[in-house]
Parts: sequence; structure tokens; C-alpha cells
Amino acid sequence: MLTDALARFPRLELVAAATPLEHLPRLSRHLGRDVWIKRDDLTPLALGGNKARKLEYLGADALAQGAEVLVTAGAIQSNHVRQTAALAARLGLGCLALLENPLGTTQSNYLSNGNRVLLDLFGCEIEAVANLDNADELLETAAERLRNAGRKPYVVPINGSNPLGALGYVRAGLELAEQMHRKGEDFAAVLLASGSAGTHSGLALALEHARPGSRVVGVTVSRPEATQRPKVEGLLERTADLLGVDVPAGLQIELWDQYFAPRYGEPNTGTLAAIRLLAEQEGVLLDPVYTGKAFAGLLDGIAQGAIPGRGPLLFLHTGGAPALFGYHPWAL
Ligand SMILES: Cc1ncc(COP(=O)(O)O)c(C=O)c1O
Repeated sequence: MLTDALARFPRLELVAAATPLEHLPRLSRHLGRDVWIKRDDLTPLALGGNKARKLEYLGADALAQGAEVLVTAGAIQSNHVRQTAALAARLGLGCLALLENPLGTTQSNYLSNGNRVLLDLFGCEIEAVANLDNADELLETAAERLRNAGRKPYVVPINGSNPLGALGYVRAGLELAEQMHRKGEDFAAVLLASGSAGTHSGLALALEHARPGSRVVGVTVSRPEATQRPKVEGLLERTADLLGVDVPAGLQIELWDQYFAPRYGEPNTGTLAAIRLLAEQEGVLLDPVYTGKAFAGLLDGIAQGAIPGRGPLLFLHTGGAPALFGYHPWAL
């Protein structure tokens, strides 16, 4: 049983209670289709977001290994680095972050506001890198340097997306299945942003175990389906292996890749329209890099009839709103 398999892994209690599952009444009326939202943007760690769930497992592992400093990497406006730095502060550990500027922008808010300003508050040490094309190598080199200086580093992979981190979304998927059961709602599809794939892999694995036949749509935020699919499927298999469970035969990974252009980290007009619509209709904030693109996919999917039937849709809100301040005013 998946719940028992998961219970064998130590976890920090960062997300002690289920995040809310809310109906969006004004938006639903506006669209003519019921839309619900799972508020993982409200996880209780440094302004919320999906990394809190991955870090529950990664942080427990770091402590078990006697780590003194968390080493990770991401974009200057990375939500992952923000939550990792916050966790390090909370655990009394150091944090070293390798940061890239994937857009090559010189806009001052991008370089110093939003998520970036918070890293300084958490006391995170920053190292600028030209790019993160070989992130694993760069992280290992940084960790080796710390070891040579007598410190004990723990490498948190980009976006916490290894099998241990993905357990956070296996747990979230089981939590969501339980909430669906209690509310008695039968969702036509669950939609979410699919980036480094830990969120998508973990959630899809858990939902197929708990509610076989659930439709999960990952809206890609950085790459076309051809390169995203092996990432999601590979991580899903490795996560199932870690848990010692089977990948259910009926599990299908569905990806929509028409919403991430022009590239990772750069919003398009659909992204901005989606952010504005949800803000105006419901007072809920999306972000310009992940959830704005995924929600644009949901809106277009409804408009195109890509999710047949009249059943409600569920959007997994994975956070990211602090980046709005980093993208203002030049890209919003
Ligand atoms: C706000 C937000 N949503 C979604 C994602 C994508 O999650 P994943 O990398 O697990 O695919 C990220 C980070 O990567 C994020 O910061």
C-alpha cells in the first residue's frame, strides 16, 4: 500500500495540515465551467509553494546525514532557492545557492527584488554562475569545496526533484485523493505546471494508485513534450522504485507544451492574461514563470474543449507569487 510505503521515510513536519481545496465561484461563472484550486501556494514555509513538500523529505535526510549547510541552485528569481534558504535558516544550517540569470536581463527588480531580496534575509550565501546547464556537476564541485574547508554540505538538487523530493508530491497526491473523496467531487482533470517534474511525477503516481483513471495534465514551463516526457516518466519510475511499489499499468503521462514559449522564465501574453484574470476574478495570485503558464493552459483547454464533459477541473497552485515583484514592471 502506498501510504505504508511512504510512512517508512522520515519527514520534517513543515506541512502539518492539508492545504485548502477551494472552489472558484466567480471564475467558474465567468468560464461556464467549474474550477477548483488546491492551495499549495499556501504551504507554511516562507511565502508558500510546492518546495515545502519536497523539502520535508530532503531536509529530514540532510539532518540524518549530519549536514551543516544546504547547497542548491536555481534562477535568480527561483522559488525553490527561497524555500530552501528559509528551511536552512529554520534548521540552523548554512545555505549556499548557485544562481543563474537565465534571461540575461539587467532589470533591477529581477536582479534584486522578489525572491532574490529574501535570500539575503535568510542569510543565504550566493554564488553567481554563467548558467546551470551542468547543474549537478556545479553543485558537486561546490559541495567538494565546502568539504575541503571542513564543512558538511548536503546537495539539494534543482527544484528538489529527485525521488526523495518527489515523495512530497506522492504525499500531496494522497492528501488530494482524500479531499476529493470527502468532498464527493469527481474532477474531469487535474492540471499543474510541469518543470523539473518532481511535482508532476509524485502527484500522478499517487493519484493513479488512490483513484485509478484520474486524468493529470502537466503543462510544460520550459521544454517541449519530447524532452519533458522522459524526465517525468523517468523520475516517476525511480520514485516508485524508491518506495518499492509498482507503476500502475493504467498510468498515462499527459503533457501540454503549447504554453511555455518563448522560453523558460519569460512570460507570454497568455501567461499575463491568465495572471490578471485570476487576480481580478478571485484575488488569487499566480506567478509569471510556472503557474501563470499552467493556468493559461487550463483556460485554453476549456476554450478548445480539450477536457470533454462538464465535470469540474482542479488546478494545483504550486506558488511562485513572490516572483511577481521581480518581474515588475518590465515583464508584467
Ligand atoms: C511556483 C512553481 N510551480 C511549479 C514548479 C514546477 O515544479 P517541478 O519543478 O516539480 O516540476 C516550480 C519549480 O520548479 C515552482 O517554483
